[in-house]
Amino acid sequence: MAKLLVQKSGPLNGIVDISGAKNAVLPLMAAALLPEETCTIDDVPALQDVRVMEDILTSLGAKVEQKEPHVLEISVPGELANVADYELVKRMRASFLVMGPLLARTGSAKVHMPGGCTIGARPIDLHLKGFRALGAEIIMRDYSVEARAPRGGLVGASVYLDFPSVGATENIMMAAVLASGTTTIENAAEEPEIVDLANFLNKMGARVKGAGTDTVKIEGVRHLHGAYHTVIPDRIETGTFMLAAAITRGEVLIRNVVPDHIKPISAKLRECGVIVEVADEGMYVVADRKELTATDIKTLPYPGFPTDIQSPFMAFLATVKGPSTVIETVFENRFMHVAELNRMGADIKVSGDRALVKGGARLEGAQVIATDLRGGAAVVLAGLAAEGTTEVSEIYHIERGYENFVEKFRGLGANILRIND
Ligand code: UD1
Repeated sequence: MAKLLVQKSGPLNGIVDISGAKNAVLPLMAAALLPEETCTIDDVPALQDVRVMEDILTSLGAKVEQKEPHVLEISVPGELANVADYELVKRMRASFLVMGPLLARTGSAKVHMPGGCTIGARPIDLHLKGFRALGAEIIMRDYSVEARAPRGGLVGASVYLDFPSVGATENIMMAAVLASGTTTIENAAEEPEIVDLANFLNKMGARVKGAGTDTVKIEGVRHLHGAYHTVIPDRIETGTFMLAAAITRGEVLIRNVVPDHIKPISAKLRECGVIVEVADEGMYVVADRKELTATDIKTLPYPGFPTDIQSPFMAFLATVKGPSTVIETVFENRFMHVAELNRMGADIKVSGDRALVKGGARLEGAQVIATDLRGGAAVVLAGLAAEGTTEVSEIYHIERGYENFVEKFRGLGANILRIND
């Protein structure tokens, strides 16, 4: 099993280029099942999750070709299968996103219950609520879900999401683009990845309005055509490198960033005394000028503070002066990294949905595990600030979602090495 060896490094210094967003590209790839013509997606990050989605699309009958290192061409040359392979689906929750496009295009879809990081119960009831509203019959059997459109196809409807779920908003949007009539998703997720998906769908000839607000309207069309689209930059990778600069008290220029997408992270880092400055060439994060102090964070759906940055931010908070409270409202089991950070000398106490971080810790290298994708990033960040060597195992979590993770950190002067045990 591969491991990461991380040693105290810093201050990190230099330039890092952000990759296309994992959470944007996965729904875009699923959406490429919708038109009868070829779609081209640019700035696709080379990630394990992208490979899994490629395999799922291929198993359904799509042709996925890598044209250049970051360019994928996706087409559906013949009939699409409507059953997604269990072995693939269980590896990644986002694989459930093929359900909407399959239902829209073939009239039925059978997908196993999805896997992914164990950060919470992660049900799919809101996805199914949307499909049902569009007229689909849902049959749950063992660990699979089957959806069948009515004889005349899906029919536009109003759907209220009890929680602004990112995946449910995306899946319902994709199911609705070929439905007859208009679909309205209320209390929709507003994440930038939703806007990216809407832009891609509209380039195919769909009529999606309001993406990025809490009400998304989709006027169904009969036919979609091929489209070319460039993935938005990864705001979570951006946040991770902002925190890498902060925790090592370094100075980093981050390029390929949409500053609007990371406003809550910038705001919170500024509250701690980190300088975040947007320039033409990218975003400067400077943390070497004064003593950094604590702040409280509370995760929320966008435009609130992203849950995916909660654990990396907590690693940083463990090192600054003063106590902070971190409240997690999006997932119910997203403090798994706390035990690992405490193993490295942090003093963090969890009580229900909140973690109390004492701050001012003198971190020590230890043997830790990447508990999940972002929790893995958190222990690596802590390792950069810890005395001695931190050995991170189960790094497949990290490799699911960060492109060239080690190379990018090394490029900034981090002392980090990937080894095969
Ligand atoms: C996406 C992101 C993930 C991020 C999360 C929240 C992708 C591939 N992943 O995940 O990185 O952490 O958004 O920003 O884009 N829920 C329900 N019923 C449902 C669906 C969700 O109760 O049918 C709940 C979940 O259990 C969770 C909350 O809603 O507590 C948020 O989940 P959701 O927004 O759906 O996250 P994902 O789309 O899975």
